Amino acid sequence: MKKLIDTLQVIDNKRLNKEFFVLLLQSDKQLPEILPGQFVQVKVEGSPRTFLRRPISVYDVDYSQQSISLLIKIAGDGTRQLSKLIPGEKLNIIYPLGNSFSKPSDNRLLLIGGGTGVAPLLFLGKYLRKQYNIVPEFLLGYRSKDLAIELEKFEEIGKTYITTEDGSLGHKGFVIHHPILFDEKKEINMIYTCGPEVMMKEVAKYANNKNIACEVSLENLMGCGIGACLCCVVDTIDNGNVNTCTEGPIFNTKQLKWQI
Ligand SMILES: Cc1cc2nc3c(=O)[nH]c(=O)nc-3n(C[C@H](O)[C@H](O)[C@H](O)COP(=O)(O)OP(=O)(O)OC[C@H]3O[C@@H](n4cnc5c(N)ncnc54)[C@H](O)[C@@H]3O)c2cc1C
Ligand code: FES
Repeated sequence: MKKLIDTLQVIDNKRLNKEFFVLLLQSDKQLPEILPGQFVQVKVEGSPRTFLRRPISVYDVDYSQQSISLLIKIAGDGTRQLSKLIPGEKLNIIYPLGNSFSKPSDNRLLLIGGGTGVAPLLFLGKYLRKQYNIVPEFLLGYRSKDLAIELEKFEEIGKTYITTEDGSLGHKGFVIHHPILFDEKKEINMIYTCGPEVMMKEVAKYANNKNIACEVSLENLMGCGIGACLCCVVDTIDNGNVNTCTEGPIFNTKQLKWQI
């Protein structure tokens, strides 16, 4: 798939809470096809310490408006600078990068996300409905209620289960503790997950024990995003060390050398 370097206009910058914001960007050209799980490499202007582009998953795409949304958490200088963008300003991105989540073999799907890991899952959920008429279910985990973002967007797509670490919303605990995972009547045939690595490893272990196929979206540190710097490698069963930015970020957990 061809990669583009494009300068998009900031249409909106919506602050959701103290940590998260959503950037809405519009291109003056026809957008290329963008698949769920793919990401963009954002050039951060005005932040001398942010030399390298920053990888951010695609949160939503509207081809009728030529627009892309990014859900971003302020983690350091680069993302803080992005949080200050105002409508009318420009943002340079390289996209669409990486591979995408695979097509499911049936409709018993659970999409499990934590923190910013919910971003690619919203896009995946919308895509599954539109492309395959599949209604997925979500299991989303947050530290507390005030960090649970844009839940209505997930609920519009499919049933959404919530956990919070402090119990201020939904089930108290981590996603891996939610009762839906222990409901013997619940059939799950495929899990797609994105979030902190420790969470994804727990989800992978659960899926492995239950013999459920599981795909993860890895958020390894990245430099170039296009396979040149080798700073994002991950060890795989079949092919040894591969670049997460080009061979991933989506991997079937059976491909990864994870102790699960
Ligand atoms: C494929 C991919 C998709 C991503 N999608 C999103 C997304 O949709 N929304 C979002 O908010 N973030 C996403 N990230 C993480 C995001 O790229 C980092 O948070 C960002 O680069 C931090 O830049 P910074 O300059 O603000 O912080 P820095 O000053 O570079 O770092 C601040 C802190 O964040 C940590 N950090 C930096 N990069 C990462 C990373 N890749 N994963 C975890 N911790 C990191 C650093 O170790 C440091 O502790 C994604 C990362 C990858 C690889
Ligand atoms: S980020 Fe440079 S090779 Fe992957």
